Amino acid sequence: MDDFELIIDTADIESIRKCDEILDVQGVTTNPTIITKTGKPAEQAIGDLVEYLRPDQKLFVQVVATDLDGIMSEARRIARLRPENTYAKIPVTHAGLRAIKQCRREGIGTLATAIYSSDAAFMAAHNGADYLAAYVNRMCNYGDGVQDVVDLIDMLAIQGSRSKLLAASFKNVDQAHKLILAGAQALTLPPDVALAMVGHPGTQIAVDEFSANWRKAYDRDTLFG
Ligand code: E4P
Repeated sequence: MDDFELIIDTADIESIRKCDEILDVQGVTTNPTIITKTGKPAEQAIGDLVEYLRPDQKLFVQVVATDLDGIMSEARRIARLRPENTYAKIPVTHAGLRAIKQCRREGIGTLATAIYSSDAAFMAAHNGADYLAAYVNRMCNYGDGVQDVVDLIDMLAIQGSRSKLLAASFKNVDQAHKLILAGAQALTLPPDVALAMVGHPGTQIAVDEFSANWRKAYDRDTLFG
């Protein structure tokens, strides 16, 4: 078993279930926008995730408050949602960076998020974040987002950081492919991108051809008669 973590970037239970059935999914990330997209009251959307996930699957819930006290209060509540494998997702604002340090002191797991530069990610790692959500696609609006995150992988390795990159904000398979190749330890992918990675039409065409040839020769659809 490798250490790579595949996280699904949605709060839609049916999409999570579909990915979970086909792929080996280690958890789910949300953000405020993702929660609103469920169309459910926030408490219900979060409760449904808590109910759905296995204890070994990770849940990352983002804080909404933007001041230190508010972030800490929400982070403590997030940590109490489940006995383990639950992380407060905290944007790397100045207040957020302070909160990440405080969470480390209190033993609350964190995912530093809304990361637009390898430097901010590195500092969040130094503050004690467990995971770093670098926003790959959004970073592409300001330069070469993929390369910036590849740099981050090197920075974390060179400095022996214990924080884990959880690359986020993916819009296509190519971005995911390049970061896996560069050694990203975890990706959070929207369900459509995760499923597109295993959705090449050639596979089904090949299977249909094998089935047709087999049926023609042996007049059945199974290996053994
Ligand atoms: C997940 O942790 C992030 O919030 C998410 O990937 C951001 O994605 P977006 O850039 O599509 O909003």
